[in-house]
Amino acid sequence: MSTLVIVGSQWGDEGKGKVTDMLAEGADMVVRYQGGNNAGHTVVVDGQEFKLHLIPSGILYPDTISVIAGGVVVDPSVLLEEIAGLNARNVETAGLRISQNAHVIMPYHKLLDALEEETRGDGKIGTTCRGIGPAYVDKVHRCGIRISDLLNSKTFKARLTTVLQDKNRVLQRIYNHEPLSFDDIYDSYSQLADRLRHYVTDTTQLVSEANKAGKNILFEGAQGTLLDIDQGTYPFVTSSHPIAGGACLGTGIGPTDIDRVIGITKAYTTRVGEGPFPVELKDTVGDRLRDAGHEYGTTTGRPRRCGWVDAVMLRYAAAVNGLSSLAVTKMDVLTGLDEIKICTAYKYRDTIIDKFPERTDVLAECEPIYEVLQGWQEDITGAVTAEELPQAARLYVARLEELSGVPASMISVGPARAQTIVNKHLLSPFHA
Ligand code: GDP
Ligand code: IMO
Ligand code: MG
Repeated sequence: MSTLVIVGSQWGDEGKGKVTDMLAEGADMVVRYQGGNNAGHTVVVDGQEFKLHLIPSGILYPDTISVIAGGVVVDPSVLLEEIAGLNARNVETAGLRISQNAHVIMPYHKLLDALEEETRGDGKIGTTCRGIGPAYVDKVHRCGIRISDLLNSKTFKARLTTVLQDKNRVLQRIYNHEPLSFDDIYDSYSQLADRLRHYVTDTTQLVSEANKAGKNILFEGAQGTLLDIDQGTYPFVTSSHPIAGGACLGTGIGPTDIDRVIGITKAYTTRVGEGPFPVELKDTVGDRLRDAGHEYGTTTGRPRRCGWVDAVMLRYAAAVNGLSSLAVTKMDVLTGLDEIKICTAYKYRDTIIDKFPERTDVLAECEPIYEVLQGWQEDITGAVTAEELPQAARLYVARLEELSGVPASMISVGPARAQTIVNKHLLSPFHA
């Protein structure tokens, strides 16, 4: 048996979807443990592109159980649309399971997400406006509505009555917004719940039993380490726990049940939304990375901010996630550059630091110190072994391994499943 957590080691969009899909071939179960439809995970199979927001990227294998665990926040209409979209493309969703404990994103969450962002003005976070933050706020405030509440009309009515009174007071008195109608929400969400009912189960037990039975389980993180509510660049973060520990919190497995953690690491860095980003390139090189890497948000379509890889951040990600290996993605995007830079330390005021600062205001003042490596010109999109990569590309990966202290188990050279160089020993039994 084996359990593996897939985690983004940067600010999201590292290629978690591609790697999850690839490794899901050897998995019995793929579990999303946090976040919601703020995520956008792209999977390319036989030239067809699938954009998954809530459903685990294992869904494309008909025999794999795909679990949306209790740590996820679920927008029922988005989920149903995603299911319908997959079915329309002949992808079976019978293997989908949804936790009774997952919290539901309600209409007032989406509305408040947008209104709160507007109020923040220059201090905005740049959220995806999908209601993620407000839904997690209610969960922690203990006034959230869970999937199990939604499925019980009496409980749903009682909880919605109380919560909506409160939300409408906030909407009217603080935001000068008209109140939301109880009947509209109750009726529409009850109908949505009925359509989801047959997928809903006790996923804590399901995952635990699969684990006890020695199944291979993949835990698919959304977002990335630096977007973690505790370990990320607060307040420019999401409201959940993308880091590997989040897999325990969101599913109910114990820390000692995790065998391996793979940090998905883009060969450069991107960030969507606001917040400090020391290696950001606001020049033609940044534009080139955005164009070559098609760096536009999967969920919102926003252009992603681009920069060089940041090894200071990578070391931090290695530590907070306990990374066993790296999957270095989008190596092909760097092809054609004469030189490639890696940030190895920061200049903070008059000092040089090589540890990632805990304080976001300190990070905002950090300037990158770069090491310059030689680029390569050869097309690498067909490489299937490390030996087929140009020497400069191999040296680049070796330097990332050295600076992060973590070996690379995968090198991705294109969006398709086959465009992946794998070090089997570091991934077995997911990749026999
Ligand atoms: P995720 O949120 O971490 O799953 O990543 P996204 O799907 O949001 O963004 C990654 C994008 O890069 C997607 O469009 C993938 O199809 C694509 N991609 C993944 N790996 C590679 C790669 O090695 N090379 C290239 N060119 N594209 C890749
Ligand atoms: P995947 O799983 C990149 C960012 C938003 C914003 C911040 C908070 O595809 O890697 P939120 O809506 O979560 O309250 O927004 O987090 N963000 C992501 N950035 N990839 C994602 O997901 C993201 N999900 C949220 O842009 O800066
Ligand atoms: Mg994404």
